[in-house]
Amino acid sequence: METLFVTGGAGFIGANFVLDWIRETGGRVVTLDQLTYAGNRHNLDDVADDPRHVFIHGDIRDRALVDATFARYRPDAVVHFAAESHVDRSIHGPAAFIETNVVGTFTLLEAARAYWMGCGASERARFRFLHVSTDEVYGSLGAHEPPFTERSPYAPNSPYAASKAASDHWVRAYHHTYGLPTVTTNCSNNFGPYQFPEKLIPLVICNGLKGEALPVYGDGQNVRDWLYVGDHCEALRVVLERGRVGETYNIGGDCERSNLAVVHTVCALLDELRPHAAIGDRRALVRFVSDRPGHDRRYAIDAGKIRAELGWRPRETFEGAMKKTVAWYLAHEDWVAGVISGEYRDWVERHYQRERAGL
Ligand code: NAD
Ligand code: DAU
Repeated sequence: METLFVTGGAGFIGANFVLDWIRETGGRVVTLDQLTYAGNRHNLDDVADDPRHVFIHGDIRDRALVDATFARYRPDAVVHFAAESHVDRSIHGPAAFIETNVVGTFTLLEAARAYWMGCGASERARFRFLHVSTDEVYGSLGAHEPPFTERSPYAPNSPYAASKAASDHWVRAYHHTYGLPTVTTNCSNNFGPYQFPEKLIPLVICNGLKGEALPVYGDGQNVRDWLYVGDHCEALRVVLERGRVGETYNIGGDCERSNLAVVHTVCALLDELRPHAAIGDRRALVRFVSDRPGHDRRYAIDAGKIRAELGWRPRETFEGAMKKTVAWYLAHEDWVAGVISGEYRDWVERHYQRERAGL
């Protein structure tokens, strides 16, 4: 039975990945997550009672804890999602991005290297360190430039992108210098269930439901390449199974949309699925607000390498996946309410109260 050591598994993509992995494979997952504001223990409720899932509350910078996790569970692979992930937060408080994305990745690499060096020959040959990264490391594209390939030069523009670029370089160096069997993926914008409503799509869903303003930065013509999170999770499984060691793979939806077009799509779906006479046409809720400093104009991914080498391509269409996503948020208003009120964070306090009481 294969065991994965997943960091950041209580966040958006990490939780989708853990739930998919447990559902789709016979494997076991050990999740390590610090439960920052972006981590929500309830995202993993579906596997709370599954003996194949272990949850550890902790920080990837805690070397002793990471070492102990390797030693106890002897994973076949690390899937590294844990990160500070929001560009706007990185503009207001970049230090946390150095801490988790750079120092945290370094700590994890050091612990993985020590563990891997101590493994027997067959464990060593099987082991993988999958680093989950972003297309933002490549910077911004002009309107007519071709999409990013794995050979595009790094040109990170935000503190978030710079911290992810640094982590990619550390991963690369650990492969080249020490032979650690790493693989890096650089993915475009994800959407789907469990995404924290600070990001564009869940923010627009949550505000639109209540009839509140929909803030669109600048002229709304910035372009992102959207991918349904389930397709990303499948791509990661394929890379774990068949990806070549030391390589990087770009993952994208081949689905470029302007932000305004995305917001209008969400509005139309909300109007269809949850019409509200007093709110009316939700497109009227759009408000153009000050632009994000240093706002990248366009991202687009050429996913030709993963398609040709590993046979992966997205299954979902943008429209179909967006309808599923809006429907998920409508069906999980408790989750949304818990996130907005901050109630989800009480898990940590309740958990440690129980532990202190010896329950
Ligand atoms: P997220 O912000 O939703 O989740 C991050 C998770 O990491 C949270 O559960 C948080 O508690 C945990 N975490 C943060 N700091 C930690 C620490 N020091 N120790 C342990 N856990 C910690 O992020 P996401 O959107 O799910 O992104 C996951 C990964 O995928 C990130 O590395 C991100 O850079 C990358 N990525 C995201 C997207 C996207 O569109 N969301 C696209 C490409 C790549
Ligand atoms: O490209 C991959 C990246 O996608 C990931 O690496 C990041 O972790 C993830 O957060 C995401 O970054 P973006 O900055 O592209 O995502 P965000 O949802 O914050 O914004 C999407 C676009 O929408 C961007 O052009 C900014 C704009 N925007 C965002 C918000 C929150 C708005 O116009 N209004 C908003 O309120």
